[in-house]
Amino acid sequence: MMRAVILGAAAGGGFPQWNSNAEGCRRARAGDPAAKPRHQASLAVSADGDHWFILNATPDLRAQIERAPFLHPRHGLRSTPIAGVVLTDGNVDAIAGLLNLREREAFTIYATGSVLGVLDENPIFEVLARDVVAREAVTLDVARPLRLADGRPSGLTLTLFAVPGKVPLYLERPGEAPAIIEGEETVGAMISDGAKRLFFIPGCARVTPPLLARLDPSTPGGADALFFDGTLWRDDEMIRAGIGSKTGRRMGHISVGGEDGTLAAFRDCPIPHRILVHINNSNPILLADSPEHAAVLAAGWRVGEDGMEITL
Ligand code: MLT
Ligand code: MN
Repeated sequence: MMRAVILGAAAGGGFPQWNSNAEGCRRARAGDPAAKPRHQASLAVSADGDHWFILNATPDLRAQIERAPFLHPRHGLRSTPIAGVVLTDGNVDAIAGLLNLREREAFTIYATGSVLGVLDENPIFEVLARDVVAREAVTLDVARPLRLADGRPSGLTLTLFAVPGKVPLYLERPGEAPAIIEGEETVGAMISDGAKRLFFIPGCARVTPPLLARLDPSTPGGADALFFDGTLWRDDEMIRAGIGSKTGRRMGHISVGGEDGTLAAFRDCPIPHRILVHINNSNPILLADSPEHAAVLAAGWRVGEDGMEITL
């Protein structure tokens, strides 16, 4: 059995974003029930309900832990149910939260060599003392056990696999649009308890035929649940709203709507649980009374919310 709880469903910046005075963010700040605030994208997964793995450590992680009683310490004066953190990319919203986890508590960081390289090159992450917090390089497409802090198996395995993406924003070269590549920079994570499979893909530039084949629920390795990149509704929505100059494509994110969007791409891929996460504050699907939100539900998807939980 597996439990998965969304700790945050928003993209980098969160909802509302600190400097946004756009309508959606204003509604969220005003407490409008149709514009629920969301932390930055993260998922907690457990096989036993006692030990948890966090997929992406966002700058909101301290607040996310406090809002999730199952992540509170239960034993002794200092302890944590968090056994490990899995990282899918090196963006600020995926790694900065690691800094909240200092204080010499043992857990393991699982990521590709490329993402671990980002941590290695930034000495601030040495606050996670290496004699306490292990950094495990994960080879793409090789399943590995997720272990508890004392080394016992958790009952879960992790497989990381490349998806189309780009280097993190702060590693882009000035004046140059980064190439969309498939490598260790942006990966999806598949967690399995041996019976069911859950996929977490918060950043993805394109839904390719190999990705669809990997997720196909009618095949033995297919997905029982998918948490997928919901950054933008339409590729140019930030430009149209006057709040940014970049398209989704430029940012390495496929859009949800449109003929070349996510809903269309998965039309013939009926994964039982399909949930959008990493939703940008400009995306109208965050507003529960919008036609775009209704379109997501009509296509068999859900719009991720903090606290949303599934059991597989
Ligand atoms: C992304 O997913 O594209 C990044 O989180 C962007 C950012 O760092 O703001
Ligand atoms: Mn992001």
